[in-house]
Amino acid sequence: MSILVVGGAGYIGSHTVDRLIEKGYSVVVIDNLSTGHRAAVHEKAVFYEGDIRDQDFLNNVFDNEKIDGVIHFAANSLVGESMEKPLKYFDNNIGGMISLLKAMNDFHVTRIVFSSTAATYGEPEQIPIYETDAQVPTNPYGESKLAMEKMMRWADQAHSIHFVALRYFNVAGAKPDGSIGEDHNPETHLIPVVLQVALGQRPELKIFGDDYDTPDGTNVRDYVHVIDLADAHILAVEYLKNGGKSDAFNLGSATGFSVKQILEAARQTTKKEIPAQIAPRRAGDPTTLIAASDKARKTLHWQPNYDDIHDIIQTAWNWHVKHPYGYQDRKA
Ligand code: UFG
Repeated sequence: MSILVVGGAGYIGSHTVDRLIEKGYSVVVIDNLSTGHRAAVHEKAVFYEGDIRDQDFLNNVFDNEKIDGVIHFAANSLVGESMEKPLKYFDNNIGGMISLLKAMNDFHVTRIVFSSTAATYGEPEQIPIYETDAQVPTNPYGESKLAMEKMMRWADQAHSIHFVALRYFNVAGAKPDGSIGEDHNPETHLIPVVLQVALGQRPELKIFGDDYDTPDGTNVRDYVHVIDLADAHILAVEYLKNGGKSDAFNLGSATGFSVKQILEAARQTTKKEIPAQIAPRRAGDPTTLIAASDKARKTLHWQPNYDDIHDIIQTAWNWHVKHPYGYQDRKA
């Protein structure tokens, strides 16, 4: 089977491409390299550099390549940035989905697995969060992903493009050998920021608020390993290939860790001091996000392998120690 991975040079995309190739799939990658890295693209993947909002470019890829299914990662994904630049999020995320669905319809490609997010739920009604819970985003990032989910529903109804929306919770970790990993610039995600402090690249961790309604006052998130997440995409591709109907699935570990707990776990794993200081809340942050992932386990037969936060942090640490400046050190 040949899979088009849109956004395959990014963090989650590159790990998914790696797993697809390990499992014998042919892979075509599209990435505009706005946040992805050329060096993260697997050497066995066919690579096209370009922006999916450019319909001619996209159609050309669909014309040149045999594509049995699409996995779509290409989007801006920072909650904080989206509060400041909402139109960037609507333009890139929603705009990209429009051209992608058009090309799929024109070239008769009828399966898509999509990176959705816990951010589509907003401030949850209950913990853990179920797929059937209300989706009321508290930030433009979540709003853009919710709109993209809805676009796929209508495209399914009109054009029989079947989809799986995977609603990720907090993705972390890296391939254990440290060869690929998370490299954002600027980095804003908690675990890589903490590890950059451990490496001495930042003076301290700023904890965004300790007055939330949680046991220690800091936000609680559900961390899932990037390779477990990658495997869920492959299971979703197979589910659609086997005639599974369009649906959405949460991907999380069903366990929550506060910012302070992550900090403590990182101190234990890295054996570094990691200074931290309380800072004001960050706009758009929900208090607690924990997934009920029973549906993915039951329907997609998803079985995450990483259930210890120390192991997740350890794999991220392997990458950071090996590549303290990320992919930069691999530029020609
Ligand atoms: N945090 C800090 N200090 C930092 C960075 C983060 O205290 O320097 C806190 C945040 O306030 C938040 C938690 O750590 O409470 C996690 O923050 P991240 O930025 O790592 O992740 P988010 O929860 O904001 O968002 C991530 C993805 C989104 C996704 C969401 C779903 O970036 O794309 O998880 O749960 F939607």
